[in-house]
Amino acid sequence: MALAARVFLPAEQIQRRVCEMGEQISNDYPDGPIYLIAILKGAFIFLADLSRAIRTPSRIEFIGISSYGRGKTTSGQVKVTKDLDVSIEGHHVLIVEDIVDSGVTLTYLMNVLKQRRPKSLQIATLLDKPERRLRPVEVTYVGFQIPDEFVVGYGLDFAEDYRNLRDVCVLAEE
Ligand code: PRP
Repeated sequence: MALAARVFLPAEQIQRRVCEMGEQISNDYPDGPIYLIAILKGAFIFLADLSRAIRTPSRIEFIGISSYGRGKTTSGQVKVTKDLDVSIEGHHVLIVEDIVDSGVTLTYLMNVLKQRRPKSLQIATLLDKPERRLRPVEVTYVGFQIPDEFVVGYGLDFAEDYRNLRDVCVLAEE
């Protein structure tokens, strides 16, 4: 089975939207620092671009949470693969995610982080697939709502491949 990657969101369109999101976040958080917590691994490129589009002083942290195996659909199993290195108590926290699909990952993470008593806790995602939702998640900043197609690139993978594509692409059988 050969897979082909067709451009779905070109890099330039992504960059424009990420800049808008950065502007909105900067206005919503006049006072820093904001703890930008990116979920490994998929959010690493979005984090790099979004953090540079935010004018409010920010600190970068990573958390590892895996809910997918090597396939295309969620296993429903969530596990922490790397915890934060710092306390977020009393700080503004913005979770940075590449895609919200079933909502299983973020429901789990919001519960974990709320218990650590941040001053505020919000979510920014580049992509949102509302059709796929199994758990309700309140997402404050959404880059693009997309239909239920399997997308890769700009950090998103299929079995660890395609993360370094500049565009978001749809992966389909040829
Ligand atoms: C993907 C994505 C989100 C999660 C969303 O991560 O990066 O974290 O799935 O899916 P959900 O809303 O159904 O929980 P994945 O587990 O594939 O790991 P990765 O980021 O390392 O690719």
